[in-house]
Amino acid sequence: MHFKHDVVIVGAGLAGLRAAIEVAGNADVALISKVYPTRSHSGAAQGGIAAALGNEEPDSWEWHMYDTVKGGDYLTDQHVAEILAKDAPRAVYELEHMGVPFNRTAEGKIAQRAFGGHTRDFGQAAVKRACYAADRSGRVMMDTLYFEAVRKGIRIYPEFQMLDLVMKDGAAVGLIALEIATGEVHFFHCRILLLATGGFGKVYKTTSNAFASTGDGVACAYRNGILLEDMEFVQFHPTGLYGLGVLISEAARGEGGVLRNAAGERFMERYAPTIKDLAPRDMVSRAIFTEIREGRGIDGRDYVHLDLTHLGESKLKEKLSDISSFIKIYLGLDPAKDLVPTQPTCHYMMGGIPVTVDGRVLGAGERIVPGLYAAGECSCISLHGANRLGCNSLLDLVVFGRRAGIAMAENVRELPWIDPPDSPERKVRAGIEGLLGRSPGGGKVARLRGAMQQAMTAHCSVFRDEGSLAEGLSLIRSLREEYAGIGIDNQGKRFNSDLLEALELEGLLDIAEAIAVCALARRESRGAHSREDYPERDDARWLKHTLVLKTANGPEVSYKPVTITRFEPKPRAY
Ligand code: FUM
Repeated sequence: MHFKHDVVIVGAGLAGLRAAIEVAGNADVALISKVYPTRSHSGAAQGGIAAALGNEEPDSWEWHMYDTVKGGDYLTDQHVAEILAKDAPRAVYELEHMGVPFNRTAEGKIAQRAFGGHTRDFGQAAVKRACYAADRSGRVMMDTLYFEAVRKGIRIYPEFQMLDLVMKDGAAVGLIALEIATGEVHFFHCRILLLATGGFGKVYKTTSNAFASTGDGVACAYRNGILLEDMEFVQFHPTGLYGLGVLISEAARGEGGVLRNAAGERFMERYAPTIKDLAPRDMVSRAIFTEIREGRGIDGRDYVHLDLTHLGESKLKEKLSDISSFIKIYLGLDPAKDLVPTQPTCHYMMGGIPVTVDGRVLGAGERIVPGLYAAGECSCISLHGANRLGCNSLLDLVVFGRRAGIAMAENVRELPWIDPPDSPERKVRAGIEGLLGRSPGGGKVARLRGAMQQAMTAHCSVFRDEGSLAEGLSLIRSLREEYAGIGIDNQGKRFNSDLLEALELEGLLDIAEAIAVCALARRESRGAHSREDYPERDDARWLKHTLVLKTANGPEVSYKPVTITRFEPKPRAY
């Protein structure tokens, strides 16, 4: 079928929902989601949303901006961090007024807790800046915004998987999506398309990301000649549950939890003497791997302990109840009594589709791609630089989701309808028929996906070097060659998850290749990109954003400058 809406938003997480709410009333808006909307991955965010409200301790937006820039190891575009930090209090009060049930102080103000890398007085000590609802902050925000979207009558297409962009003469005119329940392929024609499809943690073996975090929007954009930015910067959250990667919120350390090695030592005191366990994630993840490599992992193995035993049952119940139950359910441990085995888990992508502060996608030469917007984790607004601070993600989603919504509401009136190319879904249909025609697949998709995740985890993780990255890249390339001939077993149309996984894998392999190529090219260490063969940050040569373009000869890398406004780069210590 062909559907037609002024604005089509792909992804019903917080960025997509916030943008949709802003456009509704100004245009006919449709929201497409590969999962049931309230199952979008924003709902998994636990610890909170950052804003310098100063409800518990003095705070200021300048300190928040500074922390964001320093946390990003100075790769952050500073005008973007300024918008974020200044707009944060408004964004949080707006959520409060919509009905988000934040925890409260004794006087009834929004309660705040400490979080990694958030400080007062430009780095002097940790500050309580994260506004939270126990450890289910993303969940309650999602439910509130979803209610708002339904109330505004936004047309929702649940369980529709985006398979391709449709472009004409350099402008976006729509997308192709698979209706998962029926197996039908549809064309959505629109004047504006917003990609809000989230991250791509499924490139790695151990991740806090949901099954749906397969980077569909990023892969479709890349395949259609859209540049990607800063793809080498992949965040590993320090505390994933050992062996599973399930997120144990940084809020656990914000509330007083500490990391301990095999000797029971609070080792973060050695790596970040001022803010210790509340150092930014890149530093804590490196510290954990260093402890493990130097033989201080628990029982000589590849994990350390998170110690919450001193927090007391009532605090665990009141403020960390979800993670307490994850620890009980998955590991059979009681965090009030037992130490919790944790290890870094792939959590967040700093890179993605380059956009302006109003969500417009930037093509080659910084030219705006007509009709195409992106927001949230799939986009790269150059805000998080080389390493995002915890609680800045939920904030990014609502601040820049709203800005994209405002811009689209204005832009939609000016943009003409562009006729689509003939049979826009032809190429996608042929690809699906090819996969089905090569049945049986013999479980090859699962094997290739596992091999990709293993290769990226072994060769492109927290620590990297030239030899290992090159090996990882060649493994990914050989998997891509193998992918060309795969088939699938399930020939059915309805809920064909074999087919979906095969289609997702094609994009994931492209993304994995782009990450590895960009990581190989950047010969310095900055934020989450830690090259053991180039251990220092090198501002003279590398204070620049990476861009990567998919070409017939493989990914082509180029660079663009970083915007510095207030804070000159300095060595980064905590
Ligand atoms: O640790 C956490 O609760 C995660 C928060 C975030 O990624 O912003």
